[in-house]
Amino acid sequence: MGALLWKLNLLFLAGILFSLKHCASHRDTGRKYSFMQDATSAPIISYYDYIIVGGGTAGCPLAATLSQNHRVLVLERGGSPYGNPNITNLSAYGVPLSDTSPSSPAQRFISEDGVINSRARVLGGGSCLNAGFYTRASPRYVREAGWDGKLVNESYKWVERVVAFRPSMRQWQSAVRDGLLEVGVLPYNGFTYDHIHGTKVGGTIFDHNGHRHTAADLLEYANTNTITLLLHATVHRILFTTHKERSNSRPVAHGVLYKDARGTEHRAYLNHGTKNEIIVSAGALGSPQLLMLSGIGAGHHLREHNISVVLDQPLVGQGMSDNPMNAVYVPSPSPVEVSLISVVGITNFGSYIEAVSGAAFTSNGSEFTMFTPKIGQFSKLPPKQMILQAIAKAIGRIESLDQEALRGGFILEKVIGPISTGHLELRNTDPNDNPLVTFNYFQDPRDLERCIQGMGTIEKIIDSNAFAPFRYNNISFSMLLNMIANAQVNLLPKHTNTSMSLEQFCRDTVMTIWHYHGGCQVGRVVDNDYKVLGVDALRVIDGSTFNYSPGTNPQATLMMLGRYMGVRILRERLAADETN
Ligand SMILES: Cc1cc2nc3c(=O)[nH]c(=O)nc-3n(C[C@H](O)[C@H](O)[C@H](O)COP(=O)(O)OP(=O)(O)OC[C@H]3O[C@@H](n4cnc5c(N)ncnc54)[C@H](O)[C@@H]3O)c2cc1C
Ligand SMILES: *[C@@H]1O[C@H](CO)[C@@H](O)[C@H](O)[C@H]1NC(C)=O
Ligand SMILES: *[C@@H]1O[C@H](CO)[C@@H](O)[C@H](O)[C@H]1NC(C)=O
Ligand SMILES: *[C@@H]1O[C@H](CO)[C@@H](O)[C@H](O)[C@H]1NC(C)=O
Ligand SMILES: *[C@@H]1O[C@H](CO)[C@@H](O)[C@H](O)[C@H]1NC(C)=O
Ligand SMILES: *[C@@H]1O[C@H](CO)[C@@H](O)[C@H](O)[C@H]1NC(C)=O
Ligand SMILES: *[C@@H]1O[C@H](CO)[C@@H](O)[C@H](O)[C@H]1NC(C)=O
Ligand SMILES: *[C@@H]1O[C@H](CO)[C@@H](O)[C@H](O)[C@H]1NC(C)=O
Repeated sequence: MGALLWKLNLLFLAGILFSLKHCASHRDTGRKYSFMQDATSAPIISYYDYIIVGGGTAGCPLAATLSQNHRVLVLERGGSPYGNPNITNLSAYGVPLSDTSPSSPAQRFISEDGVINSRARVLGGGSCLNAGFYTRASPRYVREAGWDGKLVNESYKWVERVVAFRPSMRQWQSAVRDGLLEVGVLPYNGFTYDHIHGTKVGGTIFDHNGHRHTAADLLEYANTNTITLLLHATVHRILFTTHKERSNSRPVAHGVLYKDARGTEHRAYLNHGTKNEIIVSAGALGSPQLLMLSGIGAGHHLREHNISVVLDQPLVGQGMSDNPMNAVYVPSPSPVEVSLISVVGITNFGSYIEAVSGAAFTSNGSEFTMFTPKIGQFSKLPPKQMILQAIAKAIGRIESLDQEALRGGFILEKVIGPISTGHLELRNTDPNDNPLVTFNYFQDPRDLERCIQGMGTIEKIIDSNAFAPFRYNNISFSMLLNMIANAQVNLLPKHTNTSMSLEQFCRDTVMTIWHYHGGCQVGRVVDNDYKVLGVDALRVIDGSTFNYSPGTNPQATLMMLGRYMGVRILRERLAADETN
């Protein structure tokens, strides 16, 4: 036991030394890791203790942690975020999201609901594309997930030392904060990462120079002698074998097949050792998709695609959810700063109020940072009618607007949970293509009720004294609901029905806040240790395991989970070695 404690201490001491080293090192954007290489230069066959599929928000901290004691391979289908201002600049937020080319770090998908959405294709995953808001899960969420609260807090701190910052609050975000307080979203909890009812200023992964820090930065903690990171490495299949010595032969994951950018096939296998594992961290779309492509899914569905069934598991791809987001554009008579989310109102009726403001300058003039039709955040038409022609037209209209029309901001509302769920299916057997996904926004009336209440709160915020400098008094809330840009310059009606109810507004103008999750949920596809049920040596650790979205925004908890599970896996192995 003494030896075990001593080893654990060494482990944590290593962590502290790494963070000290980090403080001394500068965070230059062009830096590459010595252990990062393009998959074209990788051997055709190689062996590791852990193979992690997906160098995303959860995958990077997980890999860095496991590399402390083991040989780790990370396979990431995208490229490096380093030295790419499209990812690093706060004001470039919309650039990757509007780039639909195959080399974009963002891969667009449109759910069967008709809502335009996006998934990461870059080292660092969604943390390279997102709006940066950093906020923890509630203690209740942690309890209900069955996590160890102390290790959770230590893991959040490990993440925060590298990627979390305090935002500088300027006028518009401050007015939203004060408006929230005025309408009774109380108490004011100041600046905190904690999830507490009331209004707060949260963290951000953008530093004071507007530079983004991502989950890829957590690889600074990695052991450079034991980690290998391959970019442009797309995993096509997990390879299974069976325990030959056992009669009830459970499938055992023992390798993966991946392709590099030239299309060359490589195989990576696990070193011998019963504790070695493959861990899938390919995100809420990628993980259930890869399980299915590897033969774990509903038997009849896999057979439709000629995939040989390893395990008939109809729950893979079930429980997909995307929190509905609805927003109101508030044109402002006075100038506003360019801001992404800094403030959140955590209401007691299950709706989160957040806001973004300002327009960023582009080569063509300026445009909104978050709510631009170029990235699909456009709610002029109900989702299913949001055809590409309508979007192209809107892009043209917005580009022709006067600068003044873009002076303003969006107050948005995200529904907690949500309760409504959908499902994911394969479209084909190409891992580069998006699967078919359905979220069924507002299928459950409780989600709709939360949206309606959230919109009611937004109306009161706009009417508040605090918000007076940022609203035109002659524009009513129903006019605001029906426009996407400044009324006096160019009213773009969203809806022909001007007496639209809030219920109809919620349904017709639903957008994504990109917090989609599920598909490999705990208790259905993986157990409480994130081990895939029914097979050996395979775990899933990422947002696909969530039953509900954690906190007001999930990235902090995804990074925490990568670290948390890494430490737990290391501890389990040390404890097992100790008893052997
Ligand atoms: C535009 C946008 C804005 C957002 N805003 C916020 C915000 O402000 N605050 C917040 O907390 N959250 C925000 N989010 C949500 C948050 O970023 C995501 O929930 C989170 O990043 C998901 O983490 P993950 O580890 O589950 O998956 P990801 O980070 O997506 O990681 C999955 C990784 O796996 C790789 N991959 C997938 N398939 C394969 C394969 N077959 N082979 C190899 N690699 C593969 C992908 O390229 C990716 O890097 C936002 C997300 C987006 C997209
Ligand atoms: C940034 O995005 C633009 C537009 O999508 C693209 O043309 C450019 O190559 C990108 N820059 C980098 C460094 O990837
Ligand atoms: C990023 O920011 C720098 C300085 O703020 C600016 O020079 C550069 O043009 C920006 N790049 C993008 C893609 O926005
Ligand atoms: C973890 O930290 C939160 C505050 O961030 C606190 O409320 C909670 O009690 C802590 N949990 C443990 C087990 O220390
Ligand atoms: C499955 O295989 C059969 C027989 O080889 C073939 O006819 C069919 O087109 C295949 N289906 C798919 C989806 O590839
Ligand atoms: C600028 O406008 C032109 C013409 O409308 C368009 O083709 C181009 O894609 C735009 N570029 C950017 C970076 O938005
Ligand atoms: C609102 O008032 C402004 C002047 O403050 C005026 O320019 C604008 O036309 C008015 N808009 C509407 C919709 O009445
Ligand atoms: C317009 O909205 C009102 C209020 O929600 C509703 O009663 C009416 O049926 C709608 N009309 C049309 C044509 O959709």
